[in-house]
Amino acid sequence: MNKNVKSKSVFFCTECGYESAKWMGQCPACKNWNTFSEEPVNVNVSKKGSFSDKPPVIMKISEISMTEEDKITTGITEFDRVMGGGIVPGSLTLVGGDPGIGKSTLLLQVCMHLGRKNNRILYISGEESLKQIKMRAVRLGDFPDAVELMCETNLDRIEEIVSLRKPDTVIIDSIQTMYLDGVSSAPGSVSQVRESTGVLMRIAKGLGISVFIVGHVTKEGTVAGPRVLEHMVDTVLYFEGDRHASYRILRGVKNRFGATDEIGVFEMRENGLNEVLNPSEFMLNGRPEGAGGCIVSCSMEGTRPILIEIQALVSPTNFGIPRRQAQGTDINKLNLLMAVLEKRVGISLGNCDAYVNIAGGIKVSEPAIDLGIVLSIVSSFRNKPIPADTIAFGEVGLSGEVRSVSQIEGRIGEARKLGFKKCIVPESARESLKNQKGIETVFVKSVADAINCAF
Ligand code: TYD
Ligand code: MG
Repeated sequence: MNKNVKSKSVFFCTECGYESAKWMGQCPACKNWNTFSEEPVNVNVSKKGSFSDKPPVIMKISEISMTEEDKITTGITEFDRVMGGGIVPGSLTLVGGDPGIGKSTLLLQVCMHLGRKNNRILYISGEESLKQIKMRAVRLGDFPDAVELMCETNLDRIEEIVSLRKPDTVIIDSIQTMYLDGVSSAPGSVSQVRESTGVLMRIAKGLGISVFIVGHVTKEGTVAGPRVLEHMVDTVLYFEGDRHASYRILRGVKNRFGATDEIGVFEMRENGLNEVLNPSEFMLNGRPEGAGGCIVSCSMEGTRPILIEIQALVSPTNFGIPRRQAQGTDINKLNLLMAVLEKRVGISLGNCDAYVNIAGGIKVSEPAIDLGIVLSIVSSFRNKPIPADTIAFGEVGLSGEVRSVSQIEGRIGEARKLGFKKCIVPESARESLKNQKGIETVFVKSVADAINCAF
């Protein structure tokens, strides 16, 4: 490195990693405000042990053997499903989530299960002392000796130790505490996080070790969030949920080895995370009876239909501008659906506040719940409950039409399983749902039809 060069600095968006020569108030890439932080640019990372030491391996696709057994299952069904069937050796996985949501707990449990299958694991923590990890581990169960712990934040040393010991799986908790000597910015900065991930990638691909990286989602400050490294890793999982409630949802956002959009549902108890094998039942727990403004709808999360309760509260506005609030779904969708109700059905909501909530804290973006949202708003507006054994789903278009949704049979099956009696579905599904037993299907063409059938 030329010592005479004045050390320069650049600005990075801590949210998405966008690089700029000057400070900006809003990131042009991810549109977040106040996310730029200044970092020096003298990255001097040694490239020792990179793949270029080895002769290149060039093969024809037909020659490469690949079997499903190549994936290592943990035995935690919910986790394996989100991972696309299991852990691919030599893959790099990012587990992101808010601080305190349970990422360390989840990965420690994964370690415990893998260790029982004689997988050799090195859990490297930069956040907690060995004693603290032990205190947590004792709550989770009996750990086999195959799980080894280490407290370390210097990635140069970690790389050395890992290449000497060659474990099967390495956990890095968390990427924001790790640093490389060759990068002069502080741990957690965008350049440190990126370069560190590069080293971990080398460990994963070069030595065939599966690496899990914990990344905290940060709300402010100069600490880089996990989105900065999403594009570098093979699999991205986010652990979400309301910190005040006990359930947690593990969501696959990116997966180079399997389907994304799968979710795994867990419940946090005093002995760690427990799998929730029937999430619909869990989401509908504690439903109020005969209350206005509530209806159950169904969202496909990956390959699984999950029933969710939609709650709406519509009340006259006390101030000039009506308030609209959506929790668990998109506020723009709520505004759009209320406009459809005004214009196409003639329900005047201009002087009403409206709050919509998906009970259970799950976030749903699927359009299939549109019809449920519309009906819950009408139910609250008219103060008339919808029968508790009714379920509705369908996408609502701008002309007030109810459009078809995918995998309608799977959704109805789930509703029948949980004892629902009436199902309001799009007209287009009439052919595919000819002979349904045990559940009454009502086919609707428009939102107005649906409102007539629901009450
Ligand atoms: P943790 O895994 O430390 O979160 P993260 O690594 O994402 O920051 O989870 C900590 C929370 O989980 C903490 O609030 C306590 C709770 N918890 C339980 O409720 N039961 C348990 O058995 C464990 C280990 C943690
Ligand atoms: Mg942690």
